[in-house]
Amino acid sequence: MTPEIQSRAQQLREKIQAASYAYYVLDNPDLEDSIYDRLYRELQDLESQYPALITPDSPTQRVGERPAAGFSSVRHNIPLYSLENAFDLAEFAKWEAGWQRHLGLALSGAVGTKESAEYVCELKIDGSAIALTYEQGLLVRGVTRGDGESGEDITQNIRTIRSIPLKLNIPNPPPIVEVRGEAFLPIAVFDQLNQERQQTGEQLLANPRNAAAGTLRQLDPKMVAQRKLDFFAYTLHLSDEAQINYHWESLELLQQMGFKVNPHRELCADLTAVGAYYDRWNTERLNLAYMTDGVVVKINSIALQQQLGFTNKFPRWAVALKYPAEEAPTRVIDISVNVGRTGAITPLAHLAPVQLAGTTVQRATLHNGDRIAQLDLRIGDTVIVRKAGEIIPEIVRVLTDLRPSGAQVFKMPTHCPACESIVIKPVNEAVLRCINPSCPAILKGSLVHWVSRDALDISGLGEKLVEQLVDSKFVNSVADLYDLTVPKLMTLERMGEKSATKIVEAIASSKSKPWSRVLYGLGIRHIGSSNSSILTEKYPSVDRLIQANAAQIEGIYGVGVEIAQSVSTWFKQPLNLALIDRLQSVGLQFEQEISIENNDASQLFAGKTFVVTGTLPTLKRDEAKALIQQNGGKMTDSISAKTDYLVAGEKAGSKLAKAEKLGVKIIAESDLLAMIKNDSSIITD
Ligand code: IVH
Repeated sequence: MTPEIQSRAQQLREKIQAASYAYYVLDNPDLEDSIYDRLYRELQDLESQYPALITPDSPTQRVGERPAAGFSSVRHNIPLYSLENAFDLAEFAKWEAGWQRHLGLALSGAVGTKESAEYVCELKIDGSAIALTYEQGLLVRGVTRGDGESGEDITQNIRTIRSIPLKLNIPNPPPIVEVRGEAFLPIAVFDQLNQERQQTGEQLLANPRNAAAGTLRQLDPKMVAQRKLDFFAYTLHLSDEAQINYHWESLELLQQMGFKVNPHRELCADLTAVGAYYDRWNTERLNLAYMTDGVVVKINSIALQQQLGFTNKFPRWAVALKYPAEEAPTRVIDISVNVGRTGAITPLAHLAPVQLAGTTVQRATLHNGDRIAQLDLRIGDTVIVRKAGEIIPEIVRVLTDLRPSGAQVFKMPTHCPACESIVIKPVNEAVLRCINPSCPAILKGSLVHWVSRDALDISGLGEKLVEQLVDSKFVNSVADLYDLTVPKLMTLERMGEKSATKIVEAIASSKSKPWSRVLYGLGIRHIGSSNSSILTEKYPSVDRLIQANAAQIEGIYGVGVEIAQSVSTWFKQPLNLALIDRLQSVGLQFEQEISIENNDASQLFAGKTFVVTGTLPTLKRDEAKALIQQNGGKMTDSISAKTDYLVAGEKAGSKLAKAEKLGVKIIAESDLLAMIKNDSSIITD
């Protein structure tokens, strides 16, 4: 065992200890539950790997925390156990194998006996566990979970919860009835509470679970009553236990007694059924009015439950199958910097791989140097990463208490890591930028953007190939893509004729992409696809956009100062204008009207039949066909007397002769485009 491991274990113990004190004693949690769980797991793993690490005061060695002063402490008649966690179905399978093995040993001493059991799946409500005691059918005591052995007597508070019956709703109830369940705050109540607290400047409640726990332990029951706590019952113990054979029955009996029992429970025959329930509720739970953080799976047979019994902390017959957290702790192994297509220099954290919301995360953006300073992040630190929805993972905060002694401060570079030119920090911006127009990293980024789906959508041209093209100096600007030939591409490593041909074709077909996509592809700052559409609608040709000044652009509805500035500055730079010239000369669309993706189909060619022959200068056959069809025309393969137009390109053969013979009108691609263009409605500024 290395000294690093020893000190890591020590740090984890202290962090976990402090976090549970803040949670249980101060009612002021400083660590998210999911983070706490993972750190706890890490300590458990270390201890099981190196048992010498286990100290008597390790948080893994105790069940919970001591009750706080203010309420009298009560011993639970039956301890309130907590649940073992499984974080995915594979861990659930291990848990299942565990109880099966245990049962095999208990029954026959044989390991590996496969005993199957029916499970009850319930939602794991994110609230606070309480134990209720009824004597002769009357509520006599309500106690918090506390350390599982004894809790606090909060009977007066519990009496304010409307969904808890003060008297059991059955004739001749058993002399003593013990009911356990979860007290919780509905999300709407929680949100409202926090809104009020915000207005009065009070500290906000961390989450509904903590809000429920805190509320239950308010000393003034009137305050509790105002908070609208709710309660779901989930276990039942009768003084005469023999009456109930299945957990499912106790849930039904609880309901008859007058308790609220969560309606989304389900009997599941095996692991597969449990998996289906778990998957289904992962999304459906988001529609519920209360918070859930997993599924509780319990063996249905009470006889089997009794055979299995408890470890010193958990029942062997139940497990919490938790949903993946969107936040997790991990360690920063290194920090690198990335140069984007706008020249922005972004620091990137390289992380020890961690499972987050179902995917493995190894990198997180750090945005900029200021952010690193704000976080007080060093290489080697334990951090909390978050991945919410589609967003790139980011570091939320640093657990500085867990910082190892050699943690290194990271300095942002003074020179671009790709081209070594000096970087600048524009005023009012947090990011550093490389402003070298021929920086290879900027060029690569621009190319990747140009070929991307929403821009020119050039398939087959991925990041790897872009890298090769730039490194081989075949491509020094996006316009160079259009000079690539099959033989040239074939000189690149691992490039066959077939793929080279496909790529050249894909590049050529991008020439028919509409002006709005071209504008987006240019990668002007602040011009995403939707801004690009707004601009091209107002400025249907690049010439008009070049002539427009910032004030005019800003006058367009939906376009702000920043966007307008960015566009007008971009179109004033000689290098950019030269690029547009070149792109125009290779045939890209800089005018709105001839967009083949224009959905506003006209009826210009209604009833007209076209034939296309030979190679057209810019349009491919399919593109010409699409254009004709979009304008209401028909395109056929052979010339007849019914043909209205023959669009003839280079090397037009027999069709041209036939058309001449039949007197069919012969036009060039430019004529076709002109016809369409002249018909387009004039867009006024
Ligand atoms: S059964 C011995 N069922 O989860 C059985 N617990 O992480 C113990 N919880 O302390 C509990 N919903 O506060 C059970 N349907 C449910 C639950 C549930 C939420 C809580 C309970 C427990 C914690 C364990």
